[in-house]
Amino acid sequence: MDAKTGSNLKTAQLTVGDKSWSLPIHQGTIGPDVIDVGKLYAETGMFTYDPGFTSTAACESKITYIDGDEGILLYRGVPIEQLAEHGDFLETCYLLLYGELPTPAQKTDFDYRVTRHTMVHEQMSRFFQGFRRDAHPMAVMTGCVGALSAFYHDSTDISDPHQRMVASIRMIAKMPTLAAMAYKYNIGQPFVYPKNDLDYATNFLRMCFAVPCEEYKPNPVLARAMDRIFILHADHEQNASTSTVRLAGSTGANPFACIAAGIAALWGPAHGGANEAALKMLAEIGTPERIPEFVKRAKDKNSGFRLMGFGHRVYKNYDPRAKIMQKTAHEVLSELGHRDDPLLQCAIELERVALSDEYFIEKKLYPNVDFYSGITLKAMGIPVNMFTVLFALARTVGWIAQWKEMIEDPSQRIGRPRQLFSGATRRDYIPISRRK
Ligand code: CMC
Repeated sequence: MDAKTGSNLKTAQLTVGDKSWSLPIHQGTIGPDVIDVGKLYAETGMFTYDPGFTSTAACESKITYIDGDEGILLYRGVPIEQLAEHGDFLETCYLLLYGELPTPAQKTDFDYRVTRHTMVHEQMSRFFQGFRRDAHPMAVMTGCVGALSAFYHDSTDISDPHQRMVASIRMIAKMPTLAAMAYKYNIGQPFVYPKNDLDYATNFLRMCFAVPCEEYKPNPVLARAMDRIFILHADHEQNASTSTVRLAGSTGANPFACIAAGIAALWGPAHGGANEAALKMLAEIGTPERIPEFVKRAKDKNSGFRLMGFGHRVYKNYDPRAKIMQKTAHEVLSELGHRDDPLLQCAIELERVALSDEYFIEKKLYPNVDFYSGITLKAMGIPVNMFTVLFALARTVGWIAQWKEMIEDPSQRIGRPRQLFSGATRRDYIPISRRK
C-alpha cells in the first residue's frame, strides 16, 4: 500500500554490532520498494555510501517509470510505444507537464500557447555572434539557454506558479528556434524565423533547412520521424542530466539556469553525446567485415573502447526506444532512397554479432536509443555535431516537468550529498620556507 504514505508501512532492521534500528520501507505504485534512510545519520551517526547512485532513489516522482529488466518505459503510465505510434510531441509535453493526456480543447490551447512563444528576443541573435563560427553547437546551446534568464526576467520567480508555467512553455517553444540558430550560425546561413502555422517538428526542420532563395517543401515522413525522435527522448526519469537539473533547481536557481546545467551534463559521451559517438564509431568501422575487430576491442578492458550505443545503466534488456528508433531509421532511409546505406548495414550486422556474443549476453548489453538515432538523423541531413542538441531540445520538457515536480514538492530541500572522507586528517600548516 504505502505509496508514501497511505500506510501499512513495512520496516527494515539495520543492525551494527549490538545496536539495531528500524528503517521505514516505502512502496511505490510499481517498481522496487525503497528503504528510507533520511533519518539514518541523525539516529546512527552513519551515512549510506552509493557512488553512481546505483541503489539510491534520490526523489519521489510520478512522471516516468522504467522497468529495465522488462524493457518498459512509461510516461505518466502511458507506454512509449503507444505515444510514438499514435501521439505527437506536444501532446507528450502536455502529458509530462500536467500528468494527463490533453482533451482536444486542451491540446489546441496548449499548441497555441507554445507556438506564441517560438520567437526569441531579437538581441539573442547578436548573442550568437560572440561564439566562434566553429564552436560546438552544444557549447552554444549551454550559453544561449543560460542567457535566456537575462532576457526573460518576468518568468524567473520560482515561487510563482504562473511564472513557472510561463518559463516552461517558453523553453519548450524556444529550444527548436535556438537549436536551429546554433546550426545556421555554424554553417554560415541566415537565421530562419519560426513559422507558427507549422507543427513543432516541421517548424524545426524548416528553421534548419530553409534558405531565403528558395521555397521550403516540408516532407511529412521526415517531420513525423523527427517528432517521434522528440517523443522518444522527452523524459527518462532520474538520469544524469535530469538529476543535475533537480540538484541545481533545489538551490532555488532560476529554471533557465537549471536547464542550461542539464544541457551541460547531457553533453558527455556516456549520456547524450553517445549518439554522436555511435555514428562516428559506425563510420570508423566502415564495412561489416571489420565488425569482429571492433567487437574484440570492446571486450578488451585495456583498450578503453566501448561499443557506443550499447549498454545502459537501467535497461538490462532491449531499450524499448531503440526498437522504435530502428523502425524509424528504416522508414526514413527508405523514404530517402538510402535503403542500402552502409552505416545502416553496419549497424544491423553489429547488433546481430554483439547480441550473439557471450560477453554482451552475459553483461546484458543491448542497443540503446542512441544506436539507431544517429543513422536516422544523418540521413535527414542533420550534421553529427547537432545530434546531442536535438536530444537536449527533446529532453527539455522532461527536465522542466521534473524541475516543476521538485519545486512543487513540499518536502523538497536543497540537495546536499555527503561523503566518505579518505583524505588527510588534521595537520598543521607549514610555512613555505620550511617546506622541502
Ligand atoms: N561496450 C563494451 N562493454 C561495455 C559497454 C559497452 N558499450 N557498456 C558496458 N560495458 C561493460 C563494462 O565494461 C562493465 O564490464 P565489467 O562488469 O566486466 O567491469 C559492464 O559492462 C558494466 O558496465 P558499467 O560501465 O559498469 O555500466 P554503467 O551502468 O555504469 O554504464 C553506460 C552504462 C551507458 C554508461 C555504459 O553501458 C556505456 O558506456 N555505454 C556506451 C555509451 C552509451 O551508449 N551511452 C548511451 C546511454 S543511453 C542514452 C542516455 O541515457 O543518455
